[in-house]
Amino acid sequence: MKGDIGVIGLAVMGQNLILNMNDHGYKVVAHNRTAEKVDEFLQGPAKGTNIVGAYSLQELVDKLESPRKIMLMVRAGDVVDSFIDKLVPLLDKGDIIIDGGNTNFPDTNRRVAALKEKGIHFIGSGVSGGEEGARFGPSIMPGGSPEAWPFVKPIFQAISAKTENNEPCCDWVGNDGAGHFVKMVHNGIEYGDMQLITEAYQFMKDGLGMTHDEMQSVFIEWNKTELNSYLVEITSDILGYKDTDGEPLVEKILDTAGQKGTGKWTGINALDMGIPLTLITESVFARCLSSLKDQRVEAEELFGKKESIVEGDKQAWIEALRQALLASKIISYAQGFMLMREASNENGWDLNYGNVALMWRGGCIIRSAFLSNIRDAYDIDPELSFLGSDSYFKGILENSMSAWRKVAAKSMEVGIPMPSMTSALTFLDGYTTARLPANLLQAQRDYFGAHTYERVDKPKGEFFHTNWTGKGGDVSSTTYNS
Ligand code: 6PG
Repeated sequence: MKGDIGVIGLAVMGQNLILNMNDHGYKVVAHNRTAEKVDEFLQGPAKGTNIVGAYSLQELVDKLESPRKIMLMVRAGDVVDSFIDKLVPLLDKGDIIIDGGNTNFPDTNRRVAALKEKGIHFIGSGVSGGEEGARFGPSIMPGGSPEAWPFVKPIFQAISAKTENNEPCCDWVGNDGAGHFVKMVHNGIEYGDMQLITEAYQFMKDGLGMTHDEMQSVFIEWNKTELNSYLVEITSDILGYKDTDGEPLVEKILDTAGQKGTGKWTGINALDMGIPLTLITESVFARCLSSLKDQRVEAEELFGKKESIVEGDKQAWIEALRQALLASKIISYAQGFMLMREASNENGWDLNYGNVALMWRGGCIIRSAFLSNIRDAYDIDPELSFLGSDSYFKGILENSMSAWRKVAAKSMEVGIPMPSMTSALTFLDGYTTARLPANLLQAQRDYFGAHTYERVDKPKGEFFHTNWTGKGGDVSSTTYNS
């Protein structure tokens, strides 16, 4: 009997996905560039299963049922291209290559188009959930050649996480790089969620002077509210984790955040598309700032250490902080969905936002109860332009407003940096202001560069230039927006 699917790349994600597929009754052919890895896997975790090994790409191809489905679980970038180049001559028309790595979506656009010319189908799929997700049910976000989906769907939906109603956290996202795009936004939101949690932690630790056990209890309580999520849950575990000397391990970890680039891509894409994705972008910059450790240490000496004590009723502050975190989280998701909407329109992807929320409901790093509400919001209005306008989310934003402002103002007053929570509030204030000061900005542009402006008392699209100084002349520059 031939194999149902081949997987190339036996690092932890690849191995766990294979084992997951095997658990669901699929025969998997496993290949790795180094033969020892194949042997180690077959004699180790894959022992006693139906998994078979392949020591060359030819052997892998020969052992697969047609149309062949070959999933790459290798490092994103050149390695993917190099495997594609080696595989293509061995494949038949109609065969399917799947890239399950964290690939930047323009690369997937390019690969789908290039392989189409050769009659090979290509799927670029986000896979989220880390090692455990891969083993027992990840969130899977596939996009690319739609013709390939019916062949891959049964396997992917079988191995994916399921919601509480047993719906698979995997569905077709859209053409080209849509799957990898949605995974990129997932990761951007992951950056935002993580940053917001760390800001709450710093407010509790430095502002309210709370112990780690106290903070752990708060996160445990928060996890029983609308904030219920995987990231809040692991945060409570982390805060309670003691090092061998009985002290909280988290305080021994160097405060410089790493990043592999997906959050940065999200921010760059938002800039390219002109979407104010402020919270995620602040979260990326917060990681960048954290990595300037030596400079920060010097600057603290230079400026003096801040005493960031927050006075007042501790319980009231904790509740205010919870509301600020929840409201900020709504803004982060609202911005993320705005970005997806713009990309969908621009690329003709026809993204289904309710389905995206469903795919993120389980298995992935940002999984949370909250995503069910997002799904409901898009079920009610599939074209919702701002998540915060949905009645459920609007209610939370309005109810949290005063607590959110208190926390943001206090953080500024005592000097606790909360870039994501405060920028979220600033965004909402801007978004809900019918008239912003951009009129003055337009005047400045016209003053120094004759860039022209539109008038409130004239139809849109009519441009005016004023000779502000009497010396600049009346010739305007061309009007275009990037
Ligand atoms: C996931 C994660 C994963 C990501 C890591 C590390 O969905 O399982 O998003 O894909 O690579 O979380 O990301 P950073 O190193 O950029 O923090």
